[in-house]
Amino acid sequence: MHEYEALIVGAGGAGLYAALEASKTGKTAVLSKLYPIRSHTGAAQGGIGAALGNIEEDKPEWHAFDTVKGGDYLTDQNAAILLSEDAIQAVYELENKGLPFSRTPDGLIDQRRFGGHTRNFGEAPVRRACYAADRTGHMILQTLYQQCIKNDVVFFDEYYVLDVVMEGQRCSGLVTLNFSTGEIHIFKAKAVLFATGGFGRMFRITSNAYANTGDGQALLVNRGVPLEDLEFYQFHPTGIRGLGILITEGVRGEGGILRNAKGERFMERYAPTLLDLAPRDMIARAIHSEIQELRGIKGDGSVDDFIHLDATHLGKEKIEAKLPDIAEFSRTYLGIDPADKPMSVHPTAHYAMGGIPTDLNGRVIFDSQGTTYEGLYAAGECACVSVHGANRLGTNSLVELIVYGRRAGQHMAQYVKGADFGIAPPDVGEPARARLAELRSQGNGPNPESLRQEMQRVMMENVGIYRNGENMAKAKNTLGEMRQVYTQIKANDPSKAFNTQVLEILELGHLLDLAYMMTACALNRQESRGAHAREDYPERDDKNWLKHTLAWLEGGKIRLDYKNVDISRWAPKPRKY
Ligand code: FUM
Repeated sequence: MHEYEALIVGAGGAGLYAALEASKTGKTAVLSKLYPIRSHTGAAQGGIGAALGNIEEDKPEWHAFDTVKGGDYLTDQNAAILLSEDAIQAVYELENKGLPFSRTPDGLIDQRRFGGHTRNFGEAPVRRACYAADRTGHMILQTLYQQCIKNDVVFFDEYYVLDVVMEGQRCSGLVTLNFSTGEIHIFKAKAVLFATGGFGRMFRITSNAYANTGDGQALLVNRGVPLEDLEFYQFHPTGIRGLGILITEGVRGEGGILRNAKGERFMERYAPTLLDLAPRDMIARAIHSEIQELRGIKGDGSVDDFIHLDATHLGKEKIEAKLPDIAEFSRTYLGIDPADKPMSVHPTAHYAMGGIPTDLNGRVIFDSQGTTYEGLYAAGECACVSVHGANRLGTNSLVELIVYGRRAGQHMAQYVKGADFGIAPPDVGEPARARLAELRSQGNGPNPESLRQEMQRVMMENVGIYRNGENMAKAKNTLGEMRQVYTQIKANDPSKAFNTQVLEILELGHLLDLAYMMTACALNRQESRGAHAREDYPERDDKNWLKHTLAWLEGGKIRLDYKNVDISRWAPKPRKY
């Protein structure tokens, strides 16, 4: 049994920033199923958007507008305005904490172009992304982790959350597994924040780390918490062919060009103003269309066809200085030097716009009126503060981590000063203990690995870049059956210490729940908006669908409700780039 005033689950950018802030008033601990600096924030490459205006004129208002338009007007506009205004201070705070940003010759933080970021409400691309070569996320993690250590935040590495302790509408702790011993540890807390990241691992081709299995979202769903806007899932246009590993949009920000088999700069046809720097949903669809129309590099329209990302004209010196990791990935995984040959890429499952619904202070919401739980917070990709709407702009995930992770931590710091510890019942760990014992009891159950691969295939083929009702209805049934099969799974390995099989089974259960919910939400939304592109409903329908979805999973059944979108600043318009 442990006792901390503030407990943070997840050691990515949002979790670490929240921990840093919470530790200013209360005893704070961070639990992570990983070693903290292996968190997936470290895979974010290209930059963090903030209207510093270091290279050319820029304004937070333009950043907010781009975020709203990029999100196809499902973005809550108050959240986008706050994001773009706070981003500036948050970036300077990171600089002051030691983050080694790339610099202009004058010593200012350098800025590059990124998709959908424009000057003067869409006129032309603007240089807004602050970056540290192509290791921006990695540098954020290192900086924040060191600051947390300095501020006496306590880390519990390789601890996995099994259950959330709820007393009515209040969160008062966690039941966890110490992965190295196999023992249960119970944490009492005044406030708990989930910052557990995304769930790209439900797709076959993804940029996401193996750890991205939606644990926080699924654990809270099991405790009756709804999820918001789950139907909106982003495919990043440029993942390494066949593997999905991210090739940063920063390549295009530095001047890289997408080309089809004829060598055409095909984005001229799809987004004549922003070209290769249009938002991701549009570029992913454009690549998909080029491949379907047999202008992919293989030219057979198959699922493993691809297109070229050409950076050869940038020259070796620029590539090595500004995109060193990309150069290394290309040599390692594609066997080419991007200074000599184009990179072979196709879209890769990248980012969940939806997640645990929160208010602007990170407090988790449980109904369509926005009522919040007590002592329960979420931030980062696992959360949905409704700032990305139907499609996130590149760099805005890192902005969200630091702006909303920091805000949630600040709110926790105030909240814990006036709150008491709850009274967790003595048997609070029993359900988790029983579940672990059952999993370790061995037996000839179904093979978890085959089930995982089947889920990834079903999601990739039916709930990917393009969707339609018929395929999604079948997928939902299949996933429902797979959830039943899942209940029969047992581990072959009964050991306690570092039992990776037990962990993978628990993670698979989370992914299956979320895949089922996402498919149900996508089937329900009868329009196309942002990353949710339906062949059977190709138009955006503001009259019926300008609203956020809330979804609950109750006894295997999905319940849906809706929440208003904040459109207080800009009236929705058709998107043109
Ligand atoms: O392309 C990238 O560097 C990814 C950034 C992001 O997802 O924001």
